[in-house]
Amino acid sequence: ELMDEISELEKMFTADSETLRKVVKHFINELNKGLTKKGGNIPMIPGWVMEFPTGKESGDYLAIDLGGTNLRVVLVKLSGKHTFDTTQSKYKLPHDMRTTQHQEELWSFIADCLRDFMVEQELLNTKETLPLGFTFSYPASQNKINEGILQRWTKGFDIPNVEGHDVVPLLQNEISKRELPIEIVALINDTVGTLVASYYTDPETKMGVIFGTGVNGAFYDVVSDIEKLEGKLADDIPKDSPMAINCEYGSFDNEHLVLPRTKYDVDVDEQSPRPGQQAFEKMTSGYYLGELLRMVLIDLNKKGLMLKGQDLTKLSKPYIMDTSYPARIEEDPFENLEDTDDIFQKDFGIKTSLPERKLIRRLCELIGTRAARLAVCGIGAICQKRGYKTGHIAADGSVYNLYPGFKAAAAKGLRDIYGWTGDATNDPIKIVPAEDGSGAGAAVIAALSERRIAEGK
Ligand code: BG6
Ligand code: GLC
Repeated sequence: ELMDEISELEKMFTADSETLRKVVKHFINELNKGLTKKGGNIPMIPGWVMEFPTGKESGDYLAIDLGGTNLRVVLVKLSGKHTFDTTQSKYKLPHDMRTTQHQEELWSFIADCLRDFMVEQELLNTKETLPLGFTFSYPASQNKINEGILQRWTKGFDIPNVEGHDVVPLLQNEISKRELPIEIVALINDTVGTLVASYYTDPETKMGVIFGTGVNGAFYDVVSDIEKLEGKLADDIPKDSPMAINCEYGSFDNEHLVLPRTKYDVDVDEQSPRPGQQAFEKMTSGYYLGELLRMVLIDLNKKGLMLKGQDLTKLSKPYIMDTSYPARIEEDPFENLEDTDDIFQKDFGIKTSLPERKLIRRLCELIGTRAARLAVCGIGAICQKRGYKTGHIAADGSVYNLYPGFKAAAAKGLRDIYGWTGDATNDPIKIVPAEDGSGAGAAVIAALSERRIAEGK
């Protein structure tokens, strides 16, 4: 019976090439819709980075990077010669901070970390105000570079009274209270940071993408192709000016028209903190992959197919399985899957048989591979929309960097979308690891916006 179930799951969780191409086709329409005045599901947020870095930008900048689990504070030294050095500290976000009822706590925490960092790095006595680039990896509307009005929280964050507000003054206020010589000069999305940082070192860069707690991508569009910018640009801006766009394509297909959802995807969505939102992200990103695995296991147990007679109390807790679980299970080097055995006994108090462990491992592969294949549809769609035939796609995030097999499955997915068959090393569009993504990107963008201000634009 378990064997029948495996072949059923194989079918359910396989996204074949034809499906990927169908997804890409719809994706392109949705990206275009997002650029119209009327808008669509995908926000397509102009990021107000209106130039390509030259690689000659130089100077010292501070950057903070608020991702899903960590806050990073980074001191970036741009050499002016296509290279940079970074010194950084990582601060773990206290667990309940993601859902605190008091938004001030988040900004205070960040400002405290900034102060600690400045003490450590002996930056407090600098006479000049240090420009800071703030990487805020949530959908935030911008009418200018140093503004970010939070549209809605994603990736399990849920803090009241921030949605609808500009987060820059919220943070700047806590910085000022601590009398730190810092001015937030730019707010950027992690994908835009990744795009710009990678472009600084590699002008073949076409997109910045994140495969992490969330899934998203950024690219440079041309202002004349962005209908919703009409009336928002100064008259002297040339029509062919570039504009970085933070797609926020985690919300692709919220209407559920093309993605090959299984009943488990439906469950993950319905039982998530925000049902109906981030449909694409829920099938592809780190915040949800472990949860998806958990849903399948619970269901198979309910059907009497596995883990019979075991106490599933621990495993029944939503989000108890973060994505490090499927990652570790896939990586289990032992023939008898002893690491997996350990994980289930120690963390969940569950004894597994070898056939059960084999099924669990196969499931992890299926879920991870499907995530990678679907996730690259965003890349296929942008490249086809913009007509890119060659180039580098700079990628970052925990899933890309740590999930076994993800890189290979993503590359294969892109090959299947395009139908490339030759030697993979000759693929014209390649996904490459980003250059320490958004910290440096925030610095380059801060430098670019300072230059623009200095030039009176
Ligand atoms: C980091 C980038 O490496 O990856 C961050 O510097 C980004 O800007 C992060 O937010 C995304 O990965 P994750 O897994 O932390 O969501
Ligand atoms: C989520 C966020 C988005 C971010 C992505 C990757 O999709 O909404 O802003 O870029 O996660 O971190």
